[in-house]
Parts: sequence; C-alpha cells; structure tokens
Amino acid sequence: MTKHIGILTAGGDSPGLNAAIRGVGKTAQGRYDMQVLGFLDGFKGLVENRSVRLDGEIFSGILPRGGTILGTSRDKPHRMMFGGKKQDMTDIIVENYHANHLDALVCIGGGGTQKNALELLNKGLNIITLPKTIDNDVGLTDTTFGFDTALGIATEAIDRLHSTAHSHHRIIVVEIMGHKAGWLALGAGIAGGADVILLPELPYKIEIVANAIRSRVKSGKNFSIVAVAEGALPVDQAKLMSQARSAKEQAKDKKSRKKAKNEIASIEAVNANHTVTLSAQLEKLTGLESRVTILGHLQRGGTPSAADRLLATRLGAACADSIHNEKFGVMIAARGDGAIAVPLTEVAGNKKLVPADHPWVQAAISVGTNFGI
Ligand code: F6P
Repeated sequence: MTKHIGILTAGGDSPGLNAAIRGVGKTAQGRYDMQVLGFLDGFKGLVENRSVRLDGEIFSGILPRGGTILGTSRDKPHRMMFGGKKQDMTDIIVENYHANHLDALVCIGGGGTQKNALELLNKGLNIITLPKTIDNDVGLTDTTFGFDTALGIATEAIDRLHSTAHSHHRIIVVEIMGHKAGWLALGAGIAGGADVILLPELPYKIEIVANAIRSRVKSGKNFSIVAVAEGALPVDQAKLMSQARSAKEQAKDKKSRKKAKNEIASIEAVNANHTVTLSAQLEKLTGLESRVTILGHLQRGGTPSAADRLLATRLGAACADSIHNEKFGVMIAARGDGAIAVPLTEVAGNKKLVPADHPWVQAAISVGTNFGI
C-alpha cells in the first residue's frame, strides 16, 4: 500500500529547510514510493488545508536555497488567530490529516514546533519531527540545521567590524540572535575573536565589562568588540526575570499566572533596547566612543552552509526511513555522524542552554575573553 505523508515547516525560517524537505521527499518518493504533500505556512496551512503535491521536479535546485519553499509561520495549533480571536484548531488539523489520507506528518521546526507536534501526537496522529533553528537550543540533538550558517554569517560580521572598530578606536557592540540561548553569540564571539561575550545564561555586571575594556586600552588596544546575545541581561534584571518566571511556573490560579506574565512583559519592555543601553553605558564608563550593530534577520537569510545542507539531508533521509519503519512520535536527532530517534515526549520543552562550564566557555576564558562575570 502506498503511504501518504505530509510535510510542513514551522517557526522562524532557518537555512537548510529546503535541504531537509528535499531529503525527506526524495527518500520517501524515490526509495519508498510514498506520496508527499507539502502544507503551506506551517500549522496554519494544515488548518486551512492549503497544500501542494511534492514530486519530481519540485526537489530540483532547492538544496542551496535559503528560506522554505513551503512558507512558514509561528501559528500554534492550540492557539491560532482565527475569526479575530485565538482558537484551538487541533480538531480541524486532525480532520484535515484524515481527509488527506495521511499516514504520517513531518513537522520541521525548533523548540516551539516540538511542543506543538507533541500535542498533535497526543491527538493520535503519526507525527515525526526534525530539529531546525539558528538558535541551536533544541535538547537531545547534537545540533540543529541553520545554526552553522548563522554562525558563519555572524562570525564574518564580527571580522568586518574589527577593522572599523580598530580604525576609529571605538567599542562596537554587536547584537547576535539566539532568543534565550547564547550558542550563536558564544560561537561567533569565539570564532570572530570578540573581546567580550555576553550571554543570557551568564548575567553580566557592566563594571566588569568596562574594566576589561579599560585594561585593553591600558595595554595599547583602544578598540573592543562586544558580542552580545539578544537575550543577555545584566545581573539585576536577570534576577527579576528569573523571579517572575518561577512565579509564572508556580502560579496556582489564572489571576496569579496573569500577574506573573505581566511582570515578565514589563521586564522585557524595560530591556527591549538593552544593546543600545549597554553601548551608551560603556561609552560613559570607558570614555571611548561606542557604536551598535544589530545583525538581526541577516543571520537567517540566504544559502545554507555545506554543513547545514549535509545535516539537513542526512536527517531528512533518516526521517523517511523512520516513516517507512512506522516509528512515530519521535524527533530525528543528530548524534555524532548518525541520526537517532528521540521520543517527542522527552524533546518537547527541553531547551538546550549554554552550561556555565561548557568547553566553549572554558576555551574563551583561556584566550582572555571577558564574560562580564
Ligand atoms: O528562533 C530563531 C530566531 O531568529 C531567534 O533567534 C529570534 O529571537 C527570533 O527567531 C526572531 O523571530 P521573528 O523572526 O519572528 O522576529
């Protein structure tokens, strides 16, 4: 019996998505003779039953392309904007899954997608996922596709900022994506030779950062590159945030949950421009001129690196193998040179953050990088 499978890409786009679609699709079709349907714009397309047949020519030429040929969105099945309000659309998704005679649905996404996929698994669908995100913060996989490309882009940016910082004797504070995880800032900061790296996992003290820059000036280096993760916070703000988050987790009723959520939102609002504030503070404390560069979505755009194409292809092919073997309810994770299936129940909500004693942090400290701690 021919199997029918659906594929969707959800969450922020990430280099390597097309390579993954191709990896799953070509293996499913060419090796196992499956029919493949691509749903458009993430879970939203599944709710609205918008899809395209993925066959033959469609996989040609997409391997080096950035973005996703299927489109993506951050819509969640259980809280989707519909008719002007947020609604639980999971039952419609179940209906459409069956209406399309699907035997399995492949959800390609980051941490949020793994949680959404688990909800659909709990509704009885045959779900299988792949880990993509430039943030590299999905648990139980060595890495995620998209990370290597973004790492290369952010590293090149830091390289380029060096010569202008050096020429003008300035501080340049470069903000790097990563949501609440510091992998991208840490990796690019080390590879680009940033003098200071600030991470969400290691709340910083501004005085320590300023002192590090002053000592560089004393040793004749009157420029500095500060690589700051978008989620990094100074110690006092990080403390407030962690109190608000644990209040949210421990909230026993709707009212106290709402109160904690409002508290989190107001701390986020205070820190919305923290990179600009940080730059102004460093200018004041060190007497050097400082400039801000926010790399933003540049880090997610364009062609995937060779490493991301390779990772996405091998995980995609392993995903089709898993569907053939009827192994569902898993994420196909990278483990060494191979791929392993890890239960979605263990992946969902399992955010991989940078441990304080991670070898990358240790190596950076060894070469004199300051973390503001
Ligand atoms: O998760 C990927 C990511 O690029 C994060 O690094 C960043 O915080 C977020 O997405 C930005 O989201 P959006 O593209 O929706 O603004």
